[in-house]
Amino acid sequence: MELLRKYQLKQKDFLKLQDYIETYIGIKMPQEKKEFLESRLRKRLVYLGYDNYSQYCEYLFSHPDKSEFILLHDLVTTHKTDFFREIEHFDVLKKIVLPEMVQNKSHQDQTPFLLWSAGCSTGEEVYTIAMIAADFSFLHQNFSFKVLGSDISEDVLAKARKGIYDEEQILDIPENFRKRYLLKHKDSHQKIYRIVPNLRNLTQFSMYNLHQSKGHFIRHIDVIFCRNVIIYFKRDHQIQILAHLISHLRPMGYLFLGHAESVNYRNLGLSKIDSSVYQKRK
Ligand SMILES: C[S@@+](CC[C@H](N)C(=O)[O-])C[C@H]1O[C@@H](n2cnc3c(N)ncnc32)[C@H](O)[C@@H]1O
Repeated sequence: MELLRKYQLKQKDFLKLQDYIETYIGIKMPQEKKEFLESRLRKRLVYLGYDNYSQYCEYLFSHPDKSEFILLHDLVTTHKTDFFREIEHFDVLKKIVLPEMVQNKSHQDQTPFLLWSAGCSTGEEVYTIAMIAADFSFLHQNFSFKVLGSDISEDVLAKARKGIYDEEQILDIPENFRKRYLLKHKDSHQKIYRIVPNLRNLTQFSMYNLHQSKGHFIRHIDVIFCRNVIIYFKRDHQIQILAHLISHLRPMGYLFLGHAESVNYRNLGLSKIDSSVYQKRK
């Protein structure tokens, strides 16, 4: 009982954290999520040796070193992802989007196509896009590309850059792609796989806060995947983020959102080409 009281998040501390999370990260933190926040932060509190959440909040907000905020981002954001998640999108990418991109590119233009996974988590989405694009490039000699991955969490980005996954994580990768794009650990007892260097070299990861949009990001992107990210944001923040993403897209570029993410796409200057796949109008 004593332990439970000790680790109870007081309303005044919840409000401070709520304000920071909603203002800086942009994700919704309504009153109903107080217990969720409490449980996500408890381990950290214990690790730092604090007796209660007020001490933790004082440390967080008065400490000049911003590193604790980075850890907070990791604790409050949801990082669930998979290879080939919402698989129909990769069919649209392969059969509609990439062929149209090649068809519309002038022969003089030698610049590689840019595909961006915004809110990429641990990299599975980036490497799935890269596998599909690399496969496509075997049949289309003049098709070159780079896949950019960005996230607010440094922790997931570090994992994404390594490109190392365990057996369970790679189950959704089709067999032919596993053979081509994964290397098994030398020790056969270790069921660990790494994305091959040739594919990793076609990717680039960086920290980018979609809500604050402070970092400068490359413009004239050909395809943006921002799936299962805006669902955690308030409606007005969702619209701001989408408008910002669309400003980075070249005219006739494509935007993929998560299947559960609905938008008033016409107001954003988009046309719908498939389920949660949009194209920026000229
Ligand atoms: C549920 S994962 C989705 C991963 C992947 N896009 C997918 O669909 O499988 C959401 C990711 O968005 C990131 N995220 C949340 N808020 C963000 C923000 N303000 N700026 C950038 N990334 C953010 C989280 O850190 C997390 O890794």
